[in-house]
Amino acid sequence: MKMLQTIAEVRQQVRAWKQAGESVALVPTMGNLHEGHLRLVDEARGNSDRVVATVFVNPAQFGPGEDYESYPRTLDADRELLSARGTDLLFAPPVEEMYPRPNRAWVDVEELDRHLCGASRPGHFRGVCTVVSKLFLIVEPDSAFFGEKDYQQLAILRRMTEDLCFPVEIHGVATAREPDGLAMSSRNRYLTDSERSLAPELYRHLQLARQAIIDGERDYASLAREMEKGLKNLGFTPDYFSVVEAASLAPAGPEDRELLVAAAARLGATRLIDNIGVTIVRSP
Ligand code: PAF
Repeated sequence: MKMLQTIAEVRQQVRAWKQAGESVALVPTMGNLHEGHLRLVDEARGNSDRVVATVFVNPAQFGPGEDYESYPRTLDADRELLSARGTDLLFAPPVEEMYPRPNRAWVDVEELDRHLCGASRPGHFRGVCTVVSKLFLIVEPDSAFFGEKDYQQLAILRRMTEDLCFPVEIHGVATAREPDGLAMSSRNRYLTDSERSLAPELYRHLQLARQAIIDGERDYASLAREMEKGLKNLGFTPDYFSVVEAASLAPAGPEDRELLVAAAARLGATRLIDNIGVTIVRSP
């Protein structure tokens, strides 16, 4: 596996592959890779001739007081993992390569960023969309792979790709979970031992809410309040627990059929997010 750090070198390499008629898949990451990221690489590998992974901790998507400085940077280990899973090229640019001067051009997807994580992380999705647009323009991939754990990010990037006519096919990949249900995340390693044993409760509460909906609960606001209360009693500080319509991400109503139950909550210093889909089947 080749590792490159400049935009010019990446363009040159990808153009050579394209001239040879090869398809290129992109797996953007912020590094500190775990099995969840590697499954994105596996999917990309199965779908394309060439796989380009990126490791870049994007300062533009962190707000003041968030963990940009302390975000784990483990490039040597990431490089080995990516190589072992068949990545062809790792693009790991320094910050000055991606942002050589204060950035004045931004990519924003309206409305979809108002809900869920967007409500409490102003500017976060603008930072994500901007860096992913840059990566699309640098790598010019045929396809790109993102995890469904960050469902809102995936929905926003799909919309951005359609609205801006990027010729990139977006693939969502199912959330990778630990055996106890906890969604894999680079931030899980911030958890203390006692927080780690409590952490799967987030997913359990999402499953409880899903089951309640399947059993006929339609007062989504009170269901969400009940689940938030349960999490608080266990020691979480919930940011939100919401039942939303899966396409618009707006609060779900009783007529909606494709729902997403999504939650974000802090356990000590760690912010965990997770979600689960629910389809309401109309009774005949
Ligand atoms: O999901 C992530 O790790 C990041 O938000 C992404 C898509 C790599 C953009 O920095």
